[in-house]
Amino acid sequence: MNTVQVKDKQFALYISEEEILARVKELANRMNTDLAGKNPLFLVILNGSFVFAADLLRDITIPCEITFVRVASYEGVSSTGEVKQLLGLTQNIEGRTVIIVEDIIDTGFTMKELLRMLEEKHPAEIHISSLLVKPGNLQVDLDIPYRCFDIANEFIVGYGLDYDHEGRNLRHIYQVVE
Ligand code: IMP
Ligand code: MG
Repeated sequence: MNTVQVKDKQFALYISEEEILARVKELANRMNTDLAGKNPLFLVILNGSFVFAADLLRDITIPCEITFVRVASYEGVSSTGEVKQLLGLTQNIEGRTVIIVEDIIDTGFTMKELLRMLEEKHPAEIHISSLLVKPGNLQVDLDIPYRCFDIANEFIVGYGLDYDHEGRNLRHIYQVVE
């Protein structure tokens, strides 16, 4: 299947499931080495990261914990407009090694806010992992040590990522056809 239709847009095959799984396994192996003995807490950001997390975490062989959170936006009273809110974190992360598991980092604003909210809870360390990064769109300074693919600024769908709520269940990653 080299092209798919999601709602009103056509998408072309961009990264196959096979390529994704190979890169995810490499990433997991690196984490197994780096994080051994730290009992890391993997913080999976829903919804988009659910597929990536399922594959990544089954290749993690060191003792670890996994939890799921959501970052919600709402119109705040502040003049900056959009305010982010962290939902679903019930664990105490004080003193823990936290690994954020994200699907894609685009401008980086979501991740920056998330880091700020997590740092208030005094973890020992926080490291970012993201399946995809769009370096050309990044607008904040972020260290992303664990990433699988750096991609162009095109809109993509599949392997957990959606276009207007659809397409998350596609096995491969597809890029929009303009
Ligand atoms: P950021 O705050 O600009 O980094 O936004 C990141 C969020 O935007 C991701 O978690 C996705 O939900 C969404 N996003 C950014 N680029 C894409 C894309 O190409 N396809 C699907 N969702 C995207
Ligand atoms: Mg996301």
